[in-house]
Amino acid sequence: MLKKVYGSAVFGVEATTITCEVNVDTGVGYHLVGLPDNAIKESNYRIAAALLNNGYRIPGKKITLNLAPADLRKEGSAYDLTLALGILSASGQIKSENIEKYIIMGELSLDGSLQPIKGALPIAIKAQEEGFEGFILPKVNAKEAAIVSDLKVYGVENISEVIAFFDKGQALEQTIIDTREEFYRSLDFPEFDFSDVKGQESIKRCMEIAAAGGHNIILIGPPGAGKTMLAKRLPSILPPMTMHEALETTKIHSVVGKIKNMGLMSQRPFRAPHHTISDVALVGGGAYPQPGEISLSHNGVLFLDELPEFKRSVLEVMRQPLEDREVTISRARFTVTYPSSFMLVASMNPSPGGYFNDPDAPVTSSPAEMQRYLSKISGPLLDRIDLHIEVTPVPFEKLSEDRKGESSVEIRKRVTAAREVQTKRFNGLDNVHYNAQMNTKQIREFCKLDGASKELLKNAMERLNLSARAYDRILKVARTIADLDKAADISGNHIAEAIQYRSLDREGWLG
Ligand SMILES: Nc1ncnc2c1ncn2[C@@H]1O[C@H](COP(=O)(O)OP(=O)(O)O)[C@@H](O)[C@H]1O
Ligand SMILES: [Mg+2]
Repeated sequence: MLKKVYGSAVFGVEATTITCEVNVDTGVGYHLVGLPDNAIKESNYRIAAALLNNGYRIPGKKITLNLAPADLRKEGSAYDLTLALGILSASGQIKSENIEKYIIMGELSLDGSLQPIKGALPIAIKAQEEGFEGFILPKVNAKEAAIVSDLKVYGVENISEVIAFFDKGQALEQTIIDTREEFYRSLDFPEFDFSDVKGQESIKRCMEIAAAGGHNIILIGPPGAGKTMLAKRLPSILPPMTMHEALETTKIHSVVGKIKNMGLMSQRPFRAPHHTISDVALVGGGAYPQPGEISLSHNGVLFLDELPEFKRSVLEVMRQPLEDREVTISRARFTVTYPSSFMLVASMNPSPGGYFNDPDAPVTSSPAEMQRYLSKISGPLLDRIDLHIEVTPVPFEKLSEDRKGESSVEIRKRVTAAREVQTKRFNGLDNVHYNAQMNTKQIREFCKLDGASKELLKNAMERLNLSARAYDRILKVARTIADLDKAADISGNHIAEAIQYRSLDREGWLG
């Protein structure tokens, strides 16, 4: 008998329905065809054991399993459940009316329990689009699939439940979540809040500017100064994600199987990969492409702690995606694109020993060591970082104060207001939504200075020996400061503040 059951394959962040045709006939043999990878080829061992342990078996007949479309490469172990149900159904061991109305996926353990799958959300989106009635999958992935409306989502723990559902009509518990309600409820409760940070008012101000204009930022300070603590809190002051952004971000995390028992992500992601990270892990790739850290940070923050410690090649491969806001990975048979629009926060010690120009420092570095350390970050990547700020540790008395700082939700209100001004400003322009994205032409148009401000900037550039590349960055940042100030025009005050955030352009640093 021939039966069809349905599974799904994920490419990039989109899914394609896979038809599993199962034919059981007289004779002997077990043939799995249609470009399966090794994990799928091994599925027969898992299926055999899982069926035996639940009172069923792979019949001693000629079994042909075909995964279609045949030209699409299928990977992973998530077709175990699909194929197992197909075998039971085609060999007449269970009734299987309406089985073709479901997408059925899950990896089997030998006892028949189900292991999580990757990409449940894109699979559910595709299933709904193609008019499937339901999606049966491992329970841990049910919530992320249940984001999709108009699709019945059944999270199961063991193959026995799925068998009972089709064979005996025993109901499965449907996973229903109120996506909107959950989404909006969690918006005002950031995991990490700026109110936990004592003192550091000027740094918080700088991070507010970064958030308001979408400016990449580098924090320079000795160990223990609070750099990591501050960086972690940046997502909490960015404007709340829209439903659309949340869906995009959740999809990417779903594809790598990073979502467990959770629906739509409502908080912007914060990713902090270690400096030993490989190129592939950072930007994505691999034989079966997977998104990297820059895509897991999509719509959120990528924190590169101790920037000069990263391999140069790693920083190089990040340049293009940083510009394009997406990364494309090409393979012989296909190409996938992952979005990667993130804010970059970097940190560094002022010197390889951790300190700079500090007579009390426990370790000091020679000028040659300093030069080598700093040269690793100079150039193209640094060119994309608008704000440099020095973080000095807050004194002990400040740390022990009880007074709470301003909350992230309060700061976020000002950031959101400034973003709205920018949305209006760039209305109708394709590639620019906030100030940090302005190109040279747009800077000339939107960051006009009056005579006095021009003079101020010129003098400062000479006095502080600022490089030419600093000029455009100061203008962009000044535009954001003016937006936070609700000012139509950039004034001298705005310029003066923006100039302060160029520490690395000054002499003694990168020169
Ligand atoms: N301004 C601050 N307010 C409250 N705690 C702070 C502050 N600065 C540092 N800390 C404490 O010191 C710890 C170390 O800070 P961390 O962010 O890891 O420093 P860094 O990344 O610069 O080495 C933090 O976990 C936090 O408990
Ligand atoms: Mg740190």
